[in-house]
Amino acid sequence: MNSSISTHRHGVKTVIVPAAGMGTRFLPATKTVPKELLPVVDTPGIELIAEEANALGATRLAVIVAPNKQEVMRHFEQFPNLVETLTARGKFEQVEKVQRAGKLMTPVAVEQARPLGLGHAVGLAESVLDDDEDVVAVMLPDDLVLPMGVVEKMAAVRAELGGSVLCAVEVPRDEVFNYGVFDIAEIPADCDLPAERVKRVVGMVEKPDPADAPSTLVATGRYLLDRGIFDALRRIEPGKGGEIQLTDAIELMIREGHPVHIVVHEGKRHDLGNPAGYIPACVDFGLSHPTYGPGLKRAITAILAEHVVDDEIESARSPEPAALR
Ligand code: G1P
Repeated sequence: MNSSISTHRHGVKTVIVPAAGMGTRFLPATKTVPKELLPVVDTPGIELIAEEANALGATRLAVIVAPNKQEVMRHFEQFPNLVETLTARGKFEQVEKVQRAGKLMTPVAVEQARPLGLGHAVGLAESVLDDDEDVVAVMLPDDLVLPMGVVEKMAAVRAELGGSVLCAVEVPRDEVFNYGVFDIAEIPADCDLPAERVKRVVGMVEKPDPADAPSTLVATGRYLLDRGIFDALRRIEPGKGGEIQLTDAIELMIREGHPVHIVVHEGKRHDLGNPAGYIPACVDFGLSHPTYGPGLKRAITAILAEHVVDDEIESARSPEPAALR
């Protein structure tokens, strides 16, 4: 694991994955199954993150887990009995599926004893870093940012402009209160990066009221952070919701002159953190799946047609509003 940082494409060895949340929006499933292990078709969100981290050239997955959520780490184990049984039955494709997660990344569990916030969770991962790591990636497993590869683009911006780089998406103003929101400025005109996709961040605020939000560009679960983030995290007070916020530490670094930029992502994003986002993600992945896609398309088309008919019957039954009579 003590591979030199120079062997890592993009200079990122460790990806921090905060996975200590309680998953309350998925109860009762999350009484026994951590949210990060819920399958998108057949692959848990944590394995999709491991795939993205591996593609970035990182090798260590620092998974922040709550004391009762060690099952997330088990997903990366070897399962020798299962492999032996499947091999004996000639089910080699399934053997690959069992072994894949453990081959993608070396997982390291970091326990967060109490839910003190995203910033607190990220801060705990400093203990597993090697001395030569001057940058870390953070990937929030609730956010699927597609097509994969946005952190590579962020690394290219860091190579050019230094500092820290975050991923941003545009959302409607009435939704900004769910996110960290960026106050932005243009990058220098003579810089070799696409100015419509790369912005300088001059401030960042966690979950503001829509009326106070500095923009409608929000943070979406992918961060490339200078090692200085750990020092900043130690120096901030609890913020929004009484929690140690990653956003506040980034804002502190900006105030102290650290360069922070965003890459505005133009692809898709799924929010696996609640059923309203998780179900479309399953449908999206399912429709693209070589085995299940065609049948699923027929099934969904039939279900939609049925619901359209139901809606029509329902609206025919509803009494006309008094004002229209
Ligand atoms: C966290 C961050 C927020 C960010 C969001 C992206 O919020 O605190 O700044 O915009 O992730 O998903 P959470 O969704 O954990 O409330």
